[in-house]
Amino acid sequence: MDSKKAPLRRSEAWFGKTDRDGFVHRSWMKNQGYPHDLLDGRPIIGICNTWSELTPCNGHFRELAEFVKRGVYEAGGFPLEFPVMSLGETQLRPTAMLFRNLASMDVEESIRGNPIDGVVLLMGCDKTTPSLLMGAASCDLPTIGLSGGPMLNGKFRGKDIGSGTGVWQMSEMVRAGEMTQEDFTAAESCMHRSKGSCMTMGTASTMASMVEALGMSLPENAAIPAADTRRNRLAQLTGRRIVEMVKEDLRMSKILTRDAFENAIRTNAAIGGSTNAVVHLLAVAGRIGVPLTLDDWDRLGAEVPCLVNLQPSGKYLMEDFYYAGGLPAVLREIAPLLHRDALTANGKTLGENVANAPCYNREVIKTPNDPFMPAAGIAVLRGNLAPDGAVIKPSAASAHLLQHRGRAVVFEDIEDFHARIDDPALDVDESCVMVLKNCGPRGYPGMAEVGNMPLPPKVLHKGITDMVRISDARMSGTAYGTVVLHTSPEAAAGGTLALVRNGDIIELDVARRRLHLEVPDDELARRRAQWQAPAAPQRGWYKLYVEHVQQAHLGADLDFLVGSSGADVPRESH
Ligand code: FES
Repeated sequence: MDSKKAPLRRSEAWFGKTDRDGFVHRSWMKNQGYPHDLLDGRPIIGICNTWSELTPCNGHFRELAEFVKRGVYEAGGFPLEFPVMSLGETQLRPTAMLFRNLASMDVEESIRGNPIDGVVLLMGCDKTTPSLLMGAASCDLPTIGLSGGPMLNGKFRGKDIGSGTGVWQMSEMVRAGEMTQEDFTAAESCMHRSKGSCMTMGTASTMASMVEALGMSLPENAAIPAADTRRNRLAQLTGRRIVEMVKEDLRMSKILTRDAFENAIRTNAAIGGSTNAVVHLLAVAGRIGVPLTLDDWDRLGAEVPCLVNLQPSGKYLMEDFYYAGGLPAVLREIAPLLHRDALTANGKTLGENVANAPCYNREVIKTPNDPFMPAAGIAVLRGNLAPDGAVIKPSAASAHLLQHRGRAVVFEDIEDFHARIDDPALDVDESCVMVLKNCGPRGYPGMAEVGNMPLPPKVLHKGITDMVRISDARMSGTAYGTVVLHTSPEAAAGGTLALVRNGDIIELDVARRRLHLEVPDDELARRRAQWQAPAAPQRGWYKLYVEHVQQAHLGADLDFLVGSSGADVPRESH
């Protein structure tokens, strides 16, 4: 090693020195038993792991990392696994989304501050994917994604039941008196019976698909079940590939181009993907410096047909999707709509990767000529209720409600909703529009997944299963219904949503992209003068978050995190 030689790789700034600093960097690593030659110029591959027993969907990631390491060693690299903040969607309160940006900061600084030349991102449960992509994008090293894979199909008394989607359905049945509490409890261990992430086309599967469509992973990343040994093989191949990517200097910014994001938006429509992908991809694009707007989602995706018959919009589950051909089969079908020359992590173009992708089951993966649903992309609504936009997923909505005018029934926050929704005296019927305030980025805080408000029992008992619902919240990707989300500005930021009162008339017209509160401007001005912003948190992360979080239409990233600081080697401190 020659200390005067310019570092070939950033890890050589740590391990390539013969002085006291080099001794310190190497010697302490050797306490783990590593021989000297592993620290002598090989590409150092950081395996960024979101394993946690409190993130059950990522509970198998220690095992998965071992297969990545195999591949890294085989290709001549040196793998070093490191933990970052993990976000378990089902456990973390008040909502995992509150910590997406915090975790991204952990990822970014862990990568930049350490002797790492290339990164493998182990991602699974909903927020772990965007937080790792965002943090890594702000460093822009050679990086490849590996998702943990979905769980096997849920099985309950002879029937398939899907993550989340089945919970929402069964809990409504319990509330309507159509299912016993004992059966409901028995379904718990049947729904989630293997390792992996939610096996519906919820947010985790959507984001794993986004990773593949963006070109940030090897093909087939989205759908191989976690329990299938082919997931381990993919991990091993991913480990091999990242070493090559370091040698090729294939950085994230060469893959995450504007074309890649356009491909992802169209793919999201073709898979009937989650509305959560909107805020996450806007945030990732902001980090890598690609201009992307909310309107791009409507312009690029709205007319794209949904080809996959998967829950929550359809019938099947991710295991079926993989056996049918997985995401490559979908990408092949919509290839004319894609930028096929977009570069992907394996060094080939997206078009090359999917040119011969087979489909084995046309029940699960349809064709553009015979789609599962026409024009299934996310629609962006505007009007005085959402001047900066709101989103709806028409493919998960009821057709008869896509044009609707109704009386507002207002809930000031989610606690107010829970306190009153089961009250028989609540003045509501199925023609009403349920409005939920203060669940946006600042208001909740963290933009909770509560936009798919359960219906009042008095409506459910009539056999009604859907109503128009509007909020500044998000919705679980496993949920469904005529649900308008992400209204921007949010209520807590003084958006018009804050001014809605019981009895106001609201018009929703998805075809015209219109969301309008039928209250005269002077009356709105009078109400606005009386409005008071909610009290702000006084300390810690909550305070930092609320003071700096951007609105949903910008991706809900912190204003000072937008952009990149690169991966220059920080200064020495020894
Ligand atoms: Fe983790 Fe759904 S709760 S993927």
